[in-house]
Amino acid sequence: MAVPDRVLTNVELTTMVDTSEEWILQRTGIAERRIAGEGETTFSLSLQAARNALEVADADPARLDLIIVATVTPDYVFPATACLIQDALGAESAAAFDLSAGCSGFVYGMSLAADLIVAGKYRLALVIGAETLSRITDYTDRTTCILFGDGAGAVVLRASDAPGGVLSSQLGADGSGGELLMLPGGGSMHPATSETVTRRLHFIQMQGRQVFRFATRVMPEASKQVLDQAELQVEDVGLFVPHQANDRILQAAARGLGIPEERMYSNLARYGNTSSASIPMALCEAVEQGRIKRDDLIVCVGFGAGLTWAAAAVRWTMPLPVPDPSRTMTFRRSLRYRWSRLRSLWRRLWRRIDARLFQVLYDSHGRRKRRGRDDE
Ligand code: ACO
Repeated sequence: MAVPDRVLTNVELTTMVDTSEEWILQRTGIAERRIAGEGETTFSLSLQAARNALEVADADPARLDLIIVATVTPDYVFPATACLIQDALGAESAAAFDLSAGCSGFVYGMSLAADLIVAGKYRLALVIGAETLSRITDYTDRTTCILFGDGAGAVVLRASDAPGGVLSSQLGADGSGGELLMLPGGGSMHPATSETVTRRLHFIQMQGRQVFRFATRVMPEASKQVLDQAELQVEDVGLFVPHQANDRILQAAARGLGIPEERMYSNLARYGNTSSASIPMALCEAVEQGRIKRDDLIVCVGFGAGLTWAAAAVRWTMPLPVPDPSRTMTFRRSLRYRWSRLRSLWRRLWRRIDARLFQVLYDSHGRRKRRGRDDE
């Protein structure tokens, strides 16, 4: 995972909007969140998280077949942030695309990547959940600005003959609730104009109470469905790793599942709601804190804009504690990152030279110019 250094506390928020430390903490469970600094973007956080994940998995970026970045705050509408990652990692044989499914995006991506591996299409996939929500948060709207933060988390999925990994998943959508949580400006409906800026259409708009009700219903339902699919019980689950939106939502989900709150991982207090990044960040911390052990069953479950929801039951097969990465592979990775920077620069330069040569040698129909005819 990767998070910006800058911390935005509840006390600071009280100087920006009409709210109080107690209100935020009691109603959400959030004490602080991280905010991207100048020059930090969804891409830069994704890249840091991706490199960390490749190191933990001791995997070679050159062997990646697939890169998915789940995000609602890509660096650009296009090109996809995943393509920027592909270039920066030097993952020459990887397909790359962004996935927009709100806060469910990471579980959507992980499930898709796992299914493609099981189908035999790919062997090594990188799935990133990353956001810079601070860039689309309205810091004059007290109902939303208290919630959101920035960060990134990533996982590497690898084909294996051993049983385990993603055992089952459940993805869902109900577009009739789309307007409950949206970024209205900047798309084909409201392309950016000075008016859309004045009307603050480039910021998150949310009907929090309705999203809250939806979340408390869908989280236990989706979790139970994936467990049923895998013929497992709630009691078999070592840890639930839910989307970190609101402590009261997590408490309601725990009640709905009939489990004590301790089996619901929460790091909400330190990071707030980081949308697609929240589940992989929570996974990463849960592993680091020893809350997930080898062969444990975990359930990742999210909900978000769309409306969407997603759950996955995962048997954690990665060796724990994480073995140190091999020296040779660490060296190869650092060499590849440097080389991919050079390669990218060279390709950009070559594309310019190529375009110039093409102009000189070919006409506008793409036919080779003949010297005599051109001279006439
Ligand atoms: N400080 C003080 N008072 C506030 C604040 C604030 N920051 N925000 C709202 N209030 C007030 C309201 O104006 C309202 O006052 P009123 O009763 O006089 O009208 C009162 O507090 C209660 O407001 P509610 O909206 O009912 O508060 P609620 O308990 O529902 O909490 C919250 C609001 C925290 C937004 C909650 O609804 C929530 O967490 N919803 C889910 C949001 C979510 O999970 N989004 C995830 C998706 S993110 C994605 O996909 C990108």
